[in-house]
Amino acid sequence: MLVLGIESTCDETGASVVEDGRRVLSNVVASQVDLHAKYRGVVPEIASRAHIANILPVLREGLDRAGVSVDSVHAVAVAHRPGLIGSLLIGVTAAKTLAWALGRPLVGVDHVHAHLYSVMLGEKSDGATERRSDEGKERPAFPAVGLVVSGGHTALYRVKSWLDVELIGSTIDDAVGEAYDKVAALLGRGYPGGPILDKLAAGGDPKAVDFPRSLLGRESLDFSFSGLKTAVLYEVYGVPSRGKVLPDHPPAMSERRLADVAASFQAACVDVVAKKVQRAVKRVGARSVIIGGGVSANRGLRQRMKTLGLPVHFPPMEYCTDNAAMSAGLAHVHLEAGRTSGLELDAVTQSQFARL
Ligand code: KG4
Ligand code: ZN
Repeated sequence: MLVLGIESTCDETGASVVEDGRRVLSNVVASQVDLHAKYRGVVPEIASRAHIANILPVLREGLDRAGVSVDSVHAVAVAHRPGLIGSLLIGVTAAKTLAWALGRPLVGVDHVHAHLYSVMLGEKSDGATERRSDEGKERPAFPAVGLVVSGGHTALYRVKSWLDVELIGSTIDDAVGEAYDKVAALLGRGYPGGPILDKLAAGGDPKAVDFPRSLLGRESLDFSFSGLKTAVLYEVYGVPSRGKVLPDHPPAMSERRLADVAASFQAACVDVVAKKVQRAVKRVGARSVIIGGGVSANRGLRQRMKTLGLPVHFPPMEYCTDNAAMSAGLAHVHLEAGRTSGLELDAVTQSQFARL
């Protein structure tokens, strides 16, 4: 079964054709990074306009690269929540229009849920596997702990099956990817900050600065990264005091010091995430861990998770950040369970798993 997936929740416009839920025939992503870089974050109105410009060319390329005609698609999937409302509307409208015009089922999926499912992707159209052995070829054993770490989300889930997912913890302030982006900005580095700091961290000493690890109590599965972000600010710019205003620009720093700050920040993030995952594994009685979202590309996190002592499933690198393949794949599971959406499907800013 061929599912055409559409992604437009934030600042990437994506189209993908996935066969039988796992075999990715195409995965086209038009990134808007250059448009948002000078603002060091996503500007919603700029994102919506870029989606309008990109959606049709991206859809065409997604079908072309898969070598399939639009008529041979069996269903149209779209991530219809959570995200920026203007961005979501472009993908949802395109998906509804295609499904209606083709007379094919429409499947709305949750983007965060799709990030978890991304660990299932990887089989190429020629049947060869593109996973490395350390990325887990097997399907995750359930119950699993799901962790989504991205620019917009940092949350833990109890995953009993791909269709039975429950939120068990989430950030009370910044998402971990957002902390990476903000710390890179305050260090005068580019956007998005995650890959930049990850690279810098590799050359630094993770013990150089003892940044705080906020665990929010002994039992908590929630996260907080705003204190860590402020600690980096004070470490680099100095602590503000009466009559002392922090400078507008980062003070001159040697490459060595920059790498040490990046490595120490990364160590604090990874420590907190690893600790929370360990707590969640106990709570859930998990047999495996599933990690998705942009920050799942992080080398420090991947390394640390190997020491957890149970199977940990990461997506192949290209499916860590936002893409349509993960939504098309998850839609296959929905379709097999007889779940489809009507044309009244709406764009919704909150995840279906959010705490109300
Ligand atoms: O999943 P994603 O594309 O978008 C959201 O749904 O938010 O994640 C983007 C986020 C950005 O904050 C980016 O800085 C972060 O993922 N990111 C990383 C790495 N690669 C991307 N963070 C840490 N290390 C990385 N290697
Ligand atoms: Zn995402």
